[in-house]
Amino acid sequence: MCGIVGYIGKADAASFLINGLRRLEYRGDDSAGLAVMEDGRIAVAKSPGKVSTLSDRARAEWPADRFERATTGIAHTRWATHGPPTEVNAHPHLDRSGAIALVHNGIIENYRGLRARLEAKGHLFLSETDTEVLAHLIGDCDKGDVFQAVCHALHQVEGTFGIAVLTAREPGKIIAARRGSPIVIGVGEGETIVASDASAILAHTQRVIYLDDNDIAIVSADSVDIRDLNNVPVIREIAELGIDAAAAEKDGYEHFMLKEIHEQPHSLANAIRGRLDFNLGSAVLSGMGTSARELAELGRVVLVGCGTSLHAGLVGEYAFEDLADLHAEVQQAAEFRYRNPILGSRDLVVAISQSGETADTLAAVREARQKGAFVMSLCNVVGSTIARETGRGVYLHAGPEISVASTKAFTCQVAVLLMMALKLGRGRRFCRDEGIRLAREIERIPQFVEEVIRLDEPIAAIAESYAMTEHAFFIGRGPMFPVALEGALKVKEISYIHAEGYHAAELKHGPIALLEKDTPVIAIACDIPGKDKTLGNIEECRARGARILGLITDGDQEAAAHMDDAIAIPRCHPLVATIPAAVALQLFAYHLARHRGCEIDQPRNLAKSVTVE
Ligand code: M6R
Repeated sequence: MCGIVGYIGKADAASFLINGLRRLEYRGDDSAGLAVMEDGRIAVAKSPGKVSTLSDRARAEWPADRFERATTGIAHTRWATHGPPTEVNAHPHLDRSGAIALVHNGIIENYRGLRARLEAKGHLFLSETDTEVLAHLIGDCDKGDVFQAVCHALHQVEGTFGIAVLTAREPGKIIAARRGSPIVIGVGEGETIVASDASAILAHTQRVIYLDDNDIAIVSADSVDIRDLNNVPVIREIAELGIDAAAAEKDGYEHFMLKEIHEQPHSLANAIRGRLDFNLGSAVLSGMGTSARELAELGRVVLVGCGTSLHAGLVGEYAFEDLADLHAEVQQAAEFRYRNPILGSRDLVVAISQSGETADTLAAVREARQKGAFVMSLCNVVGSTIARETGRGVYLHAGPEISVASTKAFTCQVAVLLMMALKLGRGRRFCRDEGIRLAREIERIPQFVEEVIRLDEPIAAIAESYAMTEHAFFIGRGPMFPVALEGALKVKEISYIHAEGYHAAELKHGPIALLEKDTPVIAIACDIPGKDKTLGNIEECRARGARILGLITDGDQEAAAHMDDAIAIPRCHPLVATIPAAVALQLFAYHLARHRGCEIDQPRNLAKSVTVE
């Protein structure tokens, strides 16, 4: 909900920054500000309200030639957390010398203690924000080298940050850093852009560098020097955004949903990047904010969410039990909030929400906190209410998801849950070598998904032959059971086909009565434990005339022999395989809906974010 843009180059920085802020406005904001470097001094303009108000104010109050002469600056759209959306609380914030300006996304959790310490040293604060405390802390640490001062300050803060820092003492630089809040650097010709979201960059350059957690970058117009917080250089490759800015927002895809399905190798790489530790065979998820001891003492994990996020939680349940030997359960958030859940301080409640705004999930978070559980969130939208209220958790970094039908958020949710289970599992159950093996499999998820996306055309052809059905059943076992539920949800919400997901063993306890000749049964029969039983259930359906579309493991001729049609996904760890399997079903659902001529991105009766009970 907050946005950062920084610019250093040859253009009019103020105009550039204002345009960049406009591209971030979709996040929602309540105030904005910018700081530019002019003649070795920092000039600041801030305003409550929209970016247009800030623009009007800067143009009215600043000398006109500032727009021509200033070529370096930082800017921010704020969605108020610490203090109301007033001019004084808007970013950028200055240190006490006025020579350092800072914009910040995230929350400095220990800002009260830091503020008290700085006040005792004579610092005066103008705002109620945590960010101003960080600006002062950097100034307090500055002994002549601002980069070192930023490192020193960041070592002392707890919480999350994506920051951009401007200093009058070194006017040809912006310093950017991140922990838990994204920062992407656009590398242009003689100009460099720092942003919290690639949408502020893509009109200017396709070449970007994604900072990892605890990276700190010294950015000039023609260089990007990245270190860790101990000043050790780190190498981050320049990536191509791969988005054609001219092709409007859909980037040339017919629908956002298809675009978002195809984005998944990239969004998964973002979700995984920097979070696997191949030395320890574990995962690095600093946003969880938990010590090894706290993790070791956990007695139970409760995953709460709604819709697709609930299904991701169901996959997580298998992961926590299998990998971490930890009792895990999933609860629909609306049910959880009213059922008087029994919780204690050894229970970890993980709220899963793409938007971070779902009313029932938010209420579940509040209920869990009230009962003294250890609460964290797994959200996609940075700065969303659930992310802020939980104060700790892991962001998905899937990028904006615009289609109502959730796709890339689901696969990133599962990937992050697997990494959480890996981290917990290493502390509780398995050895380093086992951890490394699993980390290597997780690292390959984007590649596995890429392989499924290459099947887009054959899947479209299969979908066409099922498009006129009125009913469909999805079945699976183990971690593929929730994938079956998710596959059915995708089909019903965008194609309006009546689709139901069942545990493969459950059909014969009732639903099998509905099978008729050619009723589609989409069976997830990948080569994982339980496959033979699923093949048996498939035969029960075939005996009643059902038409079977199987999701099988590539090369599994035995399973293929049971199917009328088959989609093969890459062979991988059974939990990891849930992700490519889900992607295959997303493509199937998408093409079913397309063949039926449905309004795919905005299905009837649905909203992207459900903020009412
Ligand atoms: O933003 P959330 O993840 O909390 O949203 C939860 C559900 O509303 C959402 O997943 C919904 O089920 C999707 N439209 C399904 O594609």
